[in-house]
Amino acid sequence: MNLYKFVSDNIKSKIQEIDDVKDVLTADIENNIALEVPKIRDFGDYSTNVAMLLARPMKKAPRDIAQLIAEKIKELDFVADVQIAGPGFINLFLKDSFLIAPEQFCQGYKTVEKQLMVDMDYGSYNIGKQLHIGHLRTTVVGDTFNRIARFLGHKTKSYNHMGDWGLPMGLIIAWILENGMPQNADDINRMYPASTARAKEDKSWLETAQKATVELQSGNPEYNQIYNTFAPMSLDQISKILKRLNILPFDENKGERLVAEYVPKVQKILDEKNLVVRDDGADIIPVKLDSDTAPMPPVLWRSSTGAQTYAAADLAAIYYRTTTDKPDDIVYFTDNRQKLHFTQVFRAANKAGLDTARLQHVGFGTITGADGKPFKTRDGNVPQMDEMLDMVCDSVRARAVESGKNLPDETIEMIALAALKFNDLMHDVKADYVFDVDSVTQFEGRTGPYILYTAVRLNAVVKKAADMGLTAAVSDIQLKPEERNLLLRLLDFRRVLENAFARRATDLLANYTYDLAQDINTFYHNCPILRDDVAENIKQMRLHIVDMAQKTLNTAIDLMGLRVPDSM
Ligand code: ARG
Repeated sequence: MNLYKFVSDNIKSKIQEIDDVKDVLTADIENNIALEVPKIRDFGDYSTNVAMLLARPMKKAPRDIAQLIAEKIKELDFVADVQIAGPGFINLFLKDSFLIAPEQFCQGYKTVEKQLMVDMDYGSYNIGKQLHIGHLRTTVVGDTFNRIARFLGHKTKSYNHMGDWGLPMGLIIAWILENGMPQNADDINRMYPASTARAKEDKSWLETAQKATVELQSGNPEYNQIYNTFAPMSLDQISKILKRLNILPFDENKGERLVAEYVPKVQKILDEKNLVVRDDGADIIPVKLDSDTAPMPPVLWRSSTGAQTYAAADLAAIYYRTTTDKPDDIVYFTDNRQKLHFTQVFRAANKAGLDTARLQHVGFGTITGADGKPFKTRDGNVPQMDEMLDMVCDSVRARAVESGKNLPDETIEMIALAALKFNDLMHDVKADYVFDVDSVTQFEGRTGPYILYTAVRLNAVVKKAADMGLTAAVSDIQLKPEERNLLLRLLDFRRVLENAFARRATDLLANYTYDLAQDINTFYHNCPILRDDVAENIKQMRLHIVDMAQKTLNTAIDLMGLRVPDSM
């Protein structure tokens, strides 16, 4: 359950029962009622400022109003005590028997008030190019956002809007025409960089590639045959890495090439509305507004070479998605640097009336080295995704060896994956962050390995209890602070997920998971579970807490796309 919402809704409805309050309660006041979690739990499980908000309209001292409200709140059957503090804060204590009741944990996990259809555009890799560090965040954050949305009960469709139809394809085809078909993965990875480097030096080579692009797009059979040979090879490489990263398969691998079909449809709409302007051989859509203070270049709808543009593919994709999926939202996860592109495209979509869904670009920051510059490998290159994972694996292995552990490769891989992904998820998506391999692989602190370690331990307790034939049961015992804290944390999971979804802020989930792991470990250290000297009913009750904690922690881990080893 969303405990916060439950308590807050109950307080609001209790307040309505007081006539004097009801008379003055406006929507505005109601919206301002804050329910807070005091920093020091001795002051209550929740605290509210409602009496202070009502003081002026009721023309009464806040403490007197607080008294009135406190009496009402005491009537709620899940409330153990209500106290008034300071100028009129109302502090609430919840009943232990309520916090631990199994129903709280089973209720309504999968229901949302309003189910949304959300299209998500992330990953969106490029044919002929290897996945590198720049693809990490779109992949990891997008995948987790998708998992959270689904878990909450929304419908989603994930799109891998492949870069598979533009100039890079022409560059590769031109290269192949001269050098022959690629034979292996290495060849595939070499073609694009080599051809791009040459195009930079040699204008005629660039023109050759541009021509090849247009030929490909207009159906030249030879070029298409070349394309159909190397594109699957490249896609295959990409899929292997995604598998290694434990990323859910995309619902549609539909990118620039496959949306080309809808370009004429959008063209027709644009023409009907007279939105396209000829400009120096190219077709553009002006999107500047009078209110703009920053430069706002027009959308390049068709390039002067006649090739389909990046923006045209995006408009065609919007057309396809809105007409096929009828989504409420389309959310794009890319580098911040594409902000202008999406502003332009969204404006053009709006002018054309294609924006029947809310269009949102979530731009993420750069992963940097200690020097604040984009992260590079020791030899000064942009690290490929595989290299990145291998680097983290090496660090994990070294750590394991240092502490005398002999971990199988599979376990190392799981720990490394957790280290890399958790570190990515815990940072605010929009911000840059420093990547330091040594700190992300630590087994203590805000790291993936720490989260996994906590899960491994919890799983072991549950297994041992089962082997002992012990079952969980709830009895009416006064809870210790460590038990209460953990239960309150568990009952906060739903709220965190709802916020993470609404704000597209996967860091909320990651940081919640860390707090949860800490509460679990504090509980574990202070509340013995299976020890002989623990009374049977306490054992059973703690085991119930462990069960709930295990379910929640494993769910959180799964939502982040991490894998938990059997031991570590
Ligand atoms: N392939 C693009 C790139 O690597 C990202 C595509 C993002 N999605 C989109 N619909 N434009 O820069």
